[in-house]
Amino acid sequence: MTSELREHGHRLIDRLAEYIESIESRPVSTPHAPAELARRFAEPLPRQGRPAEEVWEDVWEKVVGDAIHVNHPMFMGHQVAPPLPHSVLADALVSLLNQSLAVWEMSPTGTVVEAQVMRWLVGAAGFPATAEGTLVSGGSVANLTGLLAAREARFPGCWVEGVARTPDAERAVLLVSGHSHYSVERTAGLMGLGSEAVVAVPDRDGKMDPAALDDALGALKREGRVPFAVSATAASTATGLFDPLDDVADVCARHGVWMHVDGAHGASFLLSESLKYRVRGIERADSIAWDPHKMMWMPMSTGAVLVRDGRHLNAAFRQKAPYLFHARPGEERSWDAGRMTLQCSRRFDALKLWVTLQHYGADHFAALLETTVRNAESLHARLTAAPDFEPMHAPESNILCFRHCPELGDHFQAELRRRYNESGAGWITTTVLDGVRVLRVTLMNPKTTDEHLDRLLDGLRASVSLCEPGC
Ligand SMILES: Cc1ncc(COP(=O)(O)O)c(C=O)c1O
Repeated sequence: MTSELREHGHRLIDRLAEYIESIESRPVSTPHAPAELARRFAEPLPRQGRPAEEVWEDVWEKVVGDAIHVNHPMFMGHQVAPPLPHSVLADALVSLLNQSLAVWEMSPTGTVVEAQVMRWLVGAAGFPATAEGTLVSGGSVANLTGLLAAREARFPGCWVEGVARTPDAERAVLLVSGHSHYSVERTAGLMGLGSEAVVAVPDRDGKMDPAALDDALGALKREGRVPFAVSATAASTATGLFDPLDDVADVCARHGVWMHVDGAHGASFLLSESLKYRVRGIERADSIAWDPHKMMWMPMSTGAVLVRDGRHLNAAFRQKAPYLFHARPGEERSWDAGRMTLQCSRRFDALKLWVTLQHYGADHFAALLETTVRNAESLHARLTAAPDFEPMHAPESNILCFRHCPELGDHFQAELRRRYNESGAGWITTTVLDGVRVLRVTLMNPKTTDEHLDRLLDGLRASVSLCEPGC
């Protein structure tokens, strides 16, 4: 085993470095159809093995060659990070150590490293010492966990009795930003409340309107409904705009309602002295979803959920598993993190964060974040100056929506995006804002420069001629 690791490990690391060094010589993606790619791999279960060199050659040719290259500075698509080098190395060690972070006895150092990393995040969020947090697979499960804690805090015993038999729980309502991530609405379905228990608070300028929230909470209570949580968003997936958290916190406090912040994308702004004003008020939340695999440049999956009063996080799940969870004599608290998570088998993802925070320091993360936000501002200035482009909003983060030749309509924007992405010159996304199809970029790569932004606009212009006539 060790000779395999040594020989192939060295080779792999060299190739990874070459891959990154030559990334700009590749197209960002290739235009193959799924069925075409599937044919490439359609072969019977290999009964006999073949030389590792051959297999790894196949990986580079058949897998890496036609992967989407999120490390490319022209990749401006979804919120997937080009991971930091030491996080990639730590990820390899995580796999090899294979600590299982459900219980302390299967991850003695892993458990305490995760607990320490969570203390750092809890501290950065401005939460009190009563707070607890845990790593989860990502923002979706962080939202579910935070809102399960909210449900149990408002309707104690709901886990055991079920929604139908817990007083008031059958009238529960979850209020969300109009532009919240779909995972937030899913939580209501998963909790057995039904997605009809979700009420979207009207927006003002693309952000939750605190006055409308106040009105909605008042009206729901008068109707005999029981609002148990408000989920604000920082920042929104579509536009990267931040809900006014301080004002939302005022309203939640007035109505005695749990405040959850879906900070999957934007909670990392807490690390930057110059940008943390965007999340002012997050320290007043009851729970926060925070994804280091987005704006802390970790490889997937590294999500986090933080709960102001750790007792509520511990009440979010219940389990009977005496084979697994057992307190150690004489200890005040159980170290078994699996009590707070949906998952039982859990990777030691905290090591990636621990290594990178130790090596680069939090200020380095702040600098990376500031670079990506500056890139969005720089792109906004370019779009504003160009007569053939129209920005849809001023950026508050590294996400920006816009249109090219807006007079050509929705179908054109979608077709333009398709053609541009197929060209391999870059990769962007699209969404619908207020019923209008727009182009959307998420500038995740701190290596993206003004020159790349100019190439984006030129590439889109060049792709117009590829669009079908009349679209
Ligand atoms: C605001 C927000 N919340 C939640 C999520 C879901 O996060 P994950 O994909 O890590 O589950 C996303 C992902 O795009 C997001 O933008």
